[in-house]
Amino acid sequence: MTQVSLRAVREDDRARLLAWRNDPAVSAYMYGDHVIGQDEHDRWFDGMAGSDRAAYWVIEVDGAPVGLANLADIDRKNRRCAWAYYLASPSVRGLGVGSYVEFWMIEHVFGGLGLEKLWCEVLLSNEAVWKLHMTYGFQREALFRHHVIKGGVPLDVVGLGLLAADWPALRPALAERLRAKGFSIAD
Ligand SMILES: CC(C)(COP(=O)(O)OP(=O)(O)OC[C@H]1O[C@@H](n2cnc3c(N)ncnc32)[C@H](O)[C@@H]1OP(=O)(O)O)[C@@H](O)C(=O)NCCC(=O)NCCS
Repeated sequence: MTQVSLRAVREDDRARLLAWRNDPAVSAYMYGDHVIGQDEHDRWFDGMAGSDRAAYWVIEVDGAPVGLANLADIDRKNRRCAWAYYLASPSVRGLGVGSYVEFWMIEHVFGGLGLEKLWCEVLLSNEAVWKLHMTYGFQREALFRHHVIKGGVPLDVVGLGLLAADWPALRPALAERLRAKGFSIAD
């Protein structure tokens, strides 16, 4: 059985995160278009720890780092936040890791943080990801046309949202779905 966990980012992730972020297998799905240099990366990496509007976790499979998940725009007044994640290693795709991360983050945001809404933006072309979000209860709330320019090409972006109020009704079937994939999920 695949063991998936999310842990705090550590100093020894610094080089790994730069390599992942510049890997075309990841950057293809990101908004940013340019190769990130060491200085830009260091500013971002060093700024992570002090931010109360963002949070980052390294995703591990069987103890090996495979990706990054984050919350962004944590807005305590409006009790919502955005999120995103990537799996850097193609070798762990299709094992249920993405499904586990969806469930974990939803539980963390509604349970741990007590927020009311979790939302995200996904390139329209990244159908695998926005469909996975919709499997976990996210509703498509927006289509932002020509919202991002990558490689000189304007791209459309889907906006999705999930409400804490809707989660209790969705949770049992999704927990069961994860158990069927071999994950241990509490009732
Ligand atoms: C899409 C992605 C994040 C899903 O993560 P994953 O761990 O591979 O997903 P899972 O194994 O949990 O599969 C979840 C479902 O998505 C489907 N799926 C996964 N990758 C897919 C793909 N490329 N195309 C179509 N469906 C896909 C699976 O069949 C599965 O469906 P099921 O639950 O009905 O069996 C990952 O496969 C991927 O392609 N990553 C690309 C880079 C990335 O991280 N992008 C995210 C940027 S926001």
